[in-house]
Amino acid sequence: MKRFFLTTATVLAAAACGNADATPEARATAATAQPAATTAAAAPQALPTVVVYKTEACGCCNGWVEHLRSAGFQVDARNVADLMSIKGDAGVPAGNAACHTALVDGYVVEGHVPADVIKRLLAERPDVAGLAVPGMPTGSPGMEGPGAEPYDVLTFDRQGRNTVYTTVDPR
Ligand code: CU
Ligand code: CU
Repeated sequence: MKRFFLTTATVLAAAACGNADATPEARATAATAQPAATTAAAAPQALPTVVVYKTEACGCCNGWVEHLRSAGFQVDARNVADLMSIKGDAGVPAGNAACHTALVDGYVVEGHVPADVIKRLLAERPDVAGLAVPGMPTGSPGMEGPGAEPYDVLTFDRQGRNTVYTTVDPR
């Protein structure tokens, strides 16, 4: 009888992850805490706010802002008179310039970058300063219209070097 008791106690201790002092209540708490923690980790992260610097008269900028909002981003759109100084401060390479400059979660987003590519940037967090869609290619978000062609989304670093992050075909 005594031998049976010792064996049972050993099994219970092992089930409590080696904590032989754990009470049944403590073990029950540990068992119920696990699924709760898993659920919290699986919950989607709230998207960060995108601060967009643009000029007041820019219609395609508003189109891009609406595109971001429909994709779930909070957008703080700010009309500015001197966009070039903002691009300079943000470190946007001269050859990458477009109509608006945005800041999101430590990155710079220049031009009509699709929201899903921004989400990929925030998930992968590459060691770059930001993304750019130079110029304003037809077919990019906010630039919808006939004659859409594939366009590149570039990364740029603090030295102004570019790589192609992805190519988007809006057709
Ligand atoms: Cu534009
Ligand atoms: Cu714009």
